[in-house]
Amino acid sequence: MPKVKTAFFCKSCGNESPKWIGKCTSCGEWNTYVEEIVESKTRSEYAIRSEKEPVLIEDVPLTYQYRLDTHNTEFNRVLGGGLVPGSVTLIGGEPGIGKSTLMLQIALNLSDKRFLYISGEESEQQIRMRAERIGIKNDKCFILTETLISNILTQCNKLKPDIVLVDSIQTLFNDNTDSIPGSIVQIRETAFELIQYAKTTNTPVFLIGHINKDGALAGPKVLEHMVDTVLQFEGERNYGYRILRAVKNRFGSSAELGIYEMSGYGLREVSNPSDIMIANHVDQLSGTAIAATLEGQRPMLIETQALVSTAAYGTPQRSSTGFEVRRLNMLLAVLEKRCGFKLGVKDVFLNIVGGFKIVDPSVDLAIIAAILSSNLDIPVKPKICFSGEIGLSGEIRGVSRVEQRIMEAQKIGFKTVILSGHNNKVVDVPPGIEIVRISKVEELARFLFS
Ligand code: TYD
Ligand code: MG
Repeated sequence: MPKVKTAFFCKSCGNESPKWIGKCTSCGEWNTYVEEIVESKTRSEYAIRSEKEPVLIEDVPLTYQYRLDTHNTEFNRVLGGGLVPGSVTLIGGEPGIGKSTLMLQIALNLSDKRFLYISGEESEQQIRMRAERIGIKNDKCFILTETLISNILTQCNKLKPDIVLVDSIQTLFNDNTDSIPGSIVQIRETAFELIQYAKTTNTPVFLIGHINKDGALAGPKVLEHMVDTVLQFEGERNYGYRILRAVKNRFGSSAELGIYEMSGYGLREVSNPSDIMIANHVDQLSGTAIAATLEGQRPMLIETQALVSTAAYGTPQRSSTGFEVRRLNMLLAVLEKRCGFKLGVKDVFLNIVGGFKIVDPSVDLAIIAAILSSNLDIPVKPKICFSGEIGLSGEIRGVSRVEQRIMEAQKIGFKTVILSGHNNKVVDVPPGIEIVRISKVEELARFLFS
């Protein structure tokens, strides 16, 4: 029996090494090398033979980048205004979050395009049942349950679809190599062939990718470099909301995001997230405050809730959902040092309503207001929202795009917006909105409870 040739690959960057090494010489990560079977084919067989000569940038014709409307406003927005022909988009997300549902829905919605849905995970029957559940009729959507890349490409060349989707890249394999589907070698080879197909036929290709426990896309990081766009589908499984985030986009902003709600009939687009986020907010309760945040390019009002109580045990507990605990600890330290609240001996629980994970630091001010309100058991005055970042010395720092945030607050019916003293260049304040500027956390405590 011929000897099986193996090599070691870095799980993080895809770098290859003939023997196992502890630290990757390419990306510097530790303990990322795994052994995989490789074929004896030499690299040169992969080299693209081409007679191309260099051209002057000025001589390249400037063609208008046509974009395809996916008939899904949120999806178009995340893609940067529609789907670019020949682009390759990777969609990552945890199992069960709704990647297959989202893509089937997009496929069914595109009734004027020939869509090829290739699945290595579900049977035709299962996909059909899901389509029934979503309830959209379409006579141009084809399904192919196949995992061998050469067969897939044969079918693609035969059918000549307008759009191709592969669910998921981890199930595909290339019979030139003996390694198993989902291995780094297979992911790299099959993705490479699909990218070549997209570029040569100018067909947009979607790849669904799984996420491993650490939240990274399973497979080499190199996959993220190879594709044009990386979208991340995320959300708390127990809440209905899902966020589609652009992580990388060669054709648009990577700060965009789309919001969906999982219903019994597929994913529903959420065009007015603020309305829903604060729908259950009750003004007279202590420990809650509304933050005027910016998620991606989008202003959004979000309710923050805090519960401060005397520690039952010696060591106070700090727990936070949707917000980084380390940042919560920092805010508590600032409150203790600058305002003299003895929070070091209290349990503090923090929750961002709706299952959202907030990264915008402008939410700090609302969190501090919620904590102070719970600590004193006095509700924050009604119709107030907050937007400001807290610095280590207790100063309140300005936030970006403040006009957009104020407009959103006005739209939802707020009367007062608390901002940093540094945000003093707001030109037109909408009618009915009062702006209060504060510069230090001490002032916030005074303003809220005097
Ligand atoms: P799925 O698209 O299979 O997730 P992924 O491909 O990311 O693994 O989504 C599965 C979940 O979505 C499943 O738990 C059922 C739920 N779901 C609904 O709630 N409503 C629906 O209409 C559909 C189709 C799925
Ligand atoms: Mg799936």
